[in-house]
Amino acid sequence: MSDFTSSFWSMYVAGITIFSLSACLLLLWFSGKARAMTANDNTTGHVWDGDLREMNNPLPRWWVGLFIITVLFGAVYLYLYPGLGSYAGKTGWTSKGQLDAEVAKGNAEVAPLYAKFANMGFEDVAKDPQAHAIGERLFMNNCSQCHGSDARGGKGFPNLTDNDWLYGGKPENIIESITKGRIGQMPVMAAAVGSSDDVKNVANYVLSLSGSPHDSVRANLGKPKFAVCSACHGADGKGNQTIGAPNLTDNIWLHGYGEAAIINMVNNGKVNQMPAQGAKFSEAQIRVLAAYVWSLSNLGAAK
Ligand code: HEC
Ligand code: HEC
Repeated sequence: MSDFTSSFWSMYVAGITIFSLSACLLLLWFSGKARAMTANDNTTGHVWDGDLREMNNPLPRWWVGLFIITVLFGAVYLYLYPGLGSYAGKTGWTSKGQLDAEVAKGNAEVAPLYAKFANMGFEDVAKDPQAHAIGERLFMNNCSQCHGSDARGGKGFPNLTDNDWLYGGKPENIIESITKGRIGQMPVMAAAVGSSDDVKNVANYVLSLSGSPHDSVRANLGKPKFAVCSACHGADGKGNQTIGAPNLTDNIWLHGYGEAAIINMVNNGKVNQMPAQGAKFSEAQIRVLAAYVWSLSNLGAAK
């Protein structure tokens, strides 16, 4: 409601609400006043099926009482809580305020627990069974939809258990990946490489780097073309963790294995994003999460 530039619609809605409430009471008063008596025997004079007569008794007291209570409840509610146009209500209650209070209460409850982890070294947190259980739960709820419940990832989503890192596997690298997110960008390289035959050759050269099955004649022809790739993937193809360019020599493939997958990368490029999680978690939570992720490849904690 507060989005409106004038107060007209707010007053319009409030007006309809107040009018409806008043109309309810008016209707009750009117139905008590109105006399539909046409005969003198306390009937309305309507007769059906020979002898079925409509009596003209007043509304039962309990029903009238309930009706008035309902209307009063509505009025009191609208006074205390938001409901009348943009009027915020006497109590100032909002659903957002309630949520914020509940989140703050929850955070306060777990704060001592996280304080304990904050005083421990990163590796000790990774080894702590309680921290591991918390990290695992946070991971299941927030990360598993992309990285898998076993953290082994899938096509486009890195495996976090294999000690092969796009951006580095040191605690501070993992913390940064989680907090700020990551955007891996492989540009469209087809034009820089040359003809589609050149692309096929360079793809075979890439395959040769990991000892994967390849056509060695094509690989030799493709080798000089790899110069345009080496700016990011390194002259030896071992990648560059500062920009998340994958190691192409380890036979671990984020975007699929084989000649066709590599040609596809060169021809179409790729933008792959890990959304930043910094706003969702406290620093202490991210440290526990990172320790959990770190433990998967360093302590053999991955199942
Ligand atoms: C500007 C930097 C850059 C250049 C130049 C570049 N790449 Fe990449 N490449 C990347 C990044 C970053 C990724 C990872 C994308 C992601 O995060 O998913 C990638 C991914 C790949 C992959 C997928 C690896 C996997 O594990 O599935 C292949 C294959 C690849 N590049 C081959 C090449 C080849 C061949 C060239 C040269 C023709 C090249 N790249 C040039 C940055 C680059
Ligand atoms: C919406 C999907 C998505 C969610 C949710 C997500 N990630 Fe990621 N994550 C990715 C993608 C995609 C990448 C790879 C980015 C790239 O290719 O540059 C990635 C990369 C990472 C990396 C870097 C891996 C490396 O090899 O350097 C870490 C660590 C990571 N994620 C941890 C997490 C954690 C912990 C969570 C939960 C708090 C999480 N991710 C939630 C999609 C996601």
